[in-house]
Amino acid sequence: MLVSQEIVLPCGLRLPNRLVKAAMAESMAPAPTHEPNGKMLLAYKEWAEGGWGMLLTGNVQVSEKYLGGPMDVLSSSSSSSDVQKLWKEWASACQENGTPTVVQLNHPGRQSPLGAGKRGFFTKNLAPSAVKLNFGSSLLAGVVSSLIFGAPKAMTEDDISLAIDQFVAGARQSFEAGFKGVELHGAHGYLLAQFLSPKTNLRTDDFGGTPAKRAEIVLRIIRRVRQATSKDFCIGIKLNSVDASSNNSMADTIQQIGLIVEAGIDFLEISGGSYEDPKMAAQPDANPSTPTKEVKQSTVQREAFFLSFAQTIRANFPKVVLIVSGGFRTRLGMEAALESGGCDLIGLARPAAVLPRLPKEIILNENIKDEDASVRLKPVFLPKVYSYLNWLMPVKIMGGGYTSVYYAGQIQRMGDGLKPVDARL
Ligand SMILES: Cc1cc2nc3c(=O)[nH]c(=O)nc-3n(C[C@H](O)[C@H](O)[C@H](O)COP(=O)(O)O)c2cc1C
Repeated sequence: MLVSQEIVLPCGLRLPNRLVKAAMAESMAPAPTHEPNGKMLLAYKEWAEGGWGMLLTGNVQVSEKYLGGPMDVLSSSSSSSDVQKLWKEWASACQENGTPTVVQLNHPGRQSPLGAGKRGFFTKNLAPSAVKLNFGSSLLAGVVSSLIFGAPKAMTEDDISLAIDQFVAGARQSFEAGFKGVELHGAHGYLLAQFLSPKTNLRTDDFGGTPAKRAEIVLRIIRRVRQATSKDFCIGIKLNSVDASSNNSMADTIQQIGLIVEAGIDFLEISGGSYEDPKMAAQPDANPSTPTKEVKQSTVQREAFFLSFAQTIRANFPKVVLIVSGGFRTRLGMEAALESGGCDLIGLARPAAVLPRLPKEIILNENIKDEDASVRLKPVFLPKVYSYLNWLMPVKIMGGGYTSVYYAGQIQRMGDGLKPVDARL
């Protein structure tokens, strides 16, 4: 099986197999400290038992003023020895069976909802340019955009320098705690994705105006993180495929990825979607197809949301270690994706929230036949009242947001010492 083969990243980090638990915000670190805590450790100990090739943590926010959600972990709240002790315990829990773990670092930019972060009611969100979120043309969509997120403030150069410093501080904290690396969240419409995209970055200074300048903030973070850590510390990045939410052309995206690769990354994770267009939350099992030994390319493409984009990136950057996340549910689909050369690693999020030991128990378990090695999940539907409201006044984020809340609830069950609800079809 290709999926069970070891891989070594450019920094020297050895992953025992190709299955990566993708980042999922746990929503378990309450204000005011937003520190890792005992419940989170319990959840991560479950994944540590699972036989994964690598764990990616849920997104850790780098700015205490701007969180992605009110219960996110925060990296820079304090660097006191008590806090660092908690971080070390977290790193040890994840890696107690040797599974390398990488912390995902994020700044939400304009996607920080009201109440998530230490800021005044009238303090605006930050973004490369003052471009408001657009959830559709309904009245409710307008209200959500204006009241929950508001019109962002275009960042000054000082704001940008501070954000870079905050990412570096987060990387340093992760490094000192014993994590094996960091992944910069440059996907799903958060701050770094906002900089990369011409739709949200209208700047004409050093940080906008051309594809290269739009990538400048990312390049500076990568170089500074490398300086602040070590050559064997893993630096990855999660980026969106070319889609309507980024508005980038393929040529511009390839140019940006070229610069990012040159700056020195150890892996590139491909995803897609944003709050305005939550493709990453699509539910592949709403229309399941039965896997067969001869998995056709079209079936694999349907199962793996972003594989064809990854194949284009592979053609341009043959040596980059690629993770594709989104939609994988069957061993056969995973094998076919690896075989196609489109990716080296398979990212799995929702299946990992339902079955934390999925690699050991199913995908890598040679006693389970290929045809049976799958994890089909029941689609999560909005409760009737919201679904009616969404039909009446569509808000693009609603369905995807509800799916995330459902799966974060499964992680929270793990934190309470319970099993996740087995929501397999
Ligand atoms: C509860 C939940 C929280 C998530 N949080 C994050 C996150 O913090 N960072 C991130 O990059 N993606 C996040 N995602 C997206 C996943 O990493 C993944 O890209 C997406 O769910 C598609 O993969 P899947 O089909 O295997 O679930 C989250 C998804 C879920 C369900």
